[in-house]
Amino acid sequence: MPQFGFSTQQVHGGVSPAREYGARVAPLHLSAGFVFDDFDQAEGRFAGTVEGYSYTRLGNPTTAAVERKVALLEGGADALLVGTGQAAVALTVMSILQAGDHILSADSIYEGSRNLFEHNLARFGITVDFVRDHNDPAAWERAIRPNTRLLFGEGIPNPKNDLLDVELVARVAHAHGLPLVIDNTLATPYQQRPLELGADVVVHSASKFLAGHGTALGGVVVDGGRFDWGASERPSAPLTEPDPFLEGASFVERFGRDAFMAYARGVSAARLGPAPAPFNAFLIGQGIETLSLRVERQSGSALAIARWLETRDEVESVDHAGLESSPYHALGQRLLPRGQGSVFAFTIKGGQEAARRFSDALTLFSRMTHLGDVRSLVLHPATTTHAHRSAEQLAASGIGPGMLRLSIGVEDVDDLIGDLQRCFERLPALQEEPALAVVS
Ligand SMILES: Cc1ncc(COP(=O)(O)O)c(C=O)c1O
Repeated sequence: MPQFGFSTQQVHGGVSPAREYGARVAPLHLSAGFVFDDFDQAEGRFAGTVEGYSYTRLGNPTTAAVERKVALLEGGADALLVGTGQAAVALTVMSILQAGDHILSADSIYEGSRNLFEHNLARFGITVDFVRDHNDPAAWERAIRPNTRLLFGEGIPNPKNDLLDVELVARVAHAHGLPLVIDNTLATPYQQRPLELGADVVVHSASKFLAGHGTALGGVVVDGGRFDWGASERPSAPLTEPDPFLEGASFVERFGRDAFMAYARGVSAARLGPAPAPFNAFLIGQGIETLSLRVERQSGSALAIARWLETRDEVESVDHAGLESSPYHALGQRLLPRGQGSVFAFTIKGGQEAARRFSDALTLFSRMTHLGDVRSLVLHPATTTHAHRSAEQLAASGIGPGMLRLSIGVEDVDDLIGDLQRCFERLPALQEEPALAVVS
């Protein structure tokens, strides 16, 4: 539906009234398998020559409706829904790389992706390097190796809101025949469409803004369908080498520019098995229908709160690209004109002890390792997501003991500021007091 706006597409895209009973909402198909009408249909479904579903690990109509919707919203050729965002990242990498290959990633990324690259994939012979100065093309150029097979980054990195120039990194990637994979979890397609900026594959944790209500986990892989896998002088082995299930042809020979998704869906997802529960797919589909409304509201409130935090004497710094003081402000206006997201960090004076007392005193903000929820959330990265890092590593990444990450929800912004203000005002006295009861 290219002629319609984002909000129309998020409601109507990918869904057509069900033939049976005329249900308007994509129905929830809670079925492990699907009946074959006859012997020949079973053979055809396995061969891929007869359309339809056979087994939910390989595909499900509820899941497929969400996949069509996300592909449409991201401007992609096709999308694959999996059980978690972590599975989406792992499956993408494992569909392009093999042992001996190398990933080049921005340094400022979600810690789970970083640990997957650095620790788990290392056991399978895949190595990684991280680019700290992620908007300097020369820094990426210097780190590309003969065995590099993909570049990776996040448009709005978590937790520091230190935006990535996706266009710039895509140019570097393509100059070396490499695909760029962007995790678009924090920006969502409402605020940034990485495929339009040159990225080749987009991944999401659908558990966050897409689902939106903190009830379901999910992940999405979106293929732009434009990368020329066959022409690269740094070819992906899984996609370009002969495959026994294709009578010796490669995925590129058989599927051309759709080779990546054909492999990700038909081989990686089918054999590694990260299928989403159809019920979760249903909840994610429901969430996406209000995505733009939530993101617009959350992002506007986040900027208002960041601006307010900047005026407070108790605050050392605020990491939000929407602030005129941010080194990422100009980039944010250019690449994220609809707002720079609602997940950002601020650093309170007084280090970890002040952060602890402040966080414990909040009543509207839930202390949670989650983001993109309708509820506002708070987390202390240095003692949770980043606790395994050394003090030197934390300092180098700008994750200090006084830093708190906020994920702003859809509550009234004045109430959120009121909660923060009350905690600041009481900060000196809080040391002696127990935490207040959380709003139920
Ligand atoms: C940017 C980003 N990518 C991926 C993930 C992993 O997603 P999930 O928790 O759905 O596995 C997260 C989780 O916080 C995230 O923030």
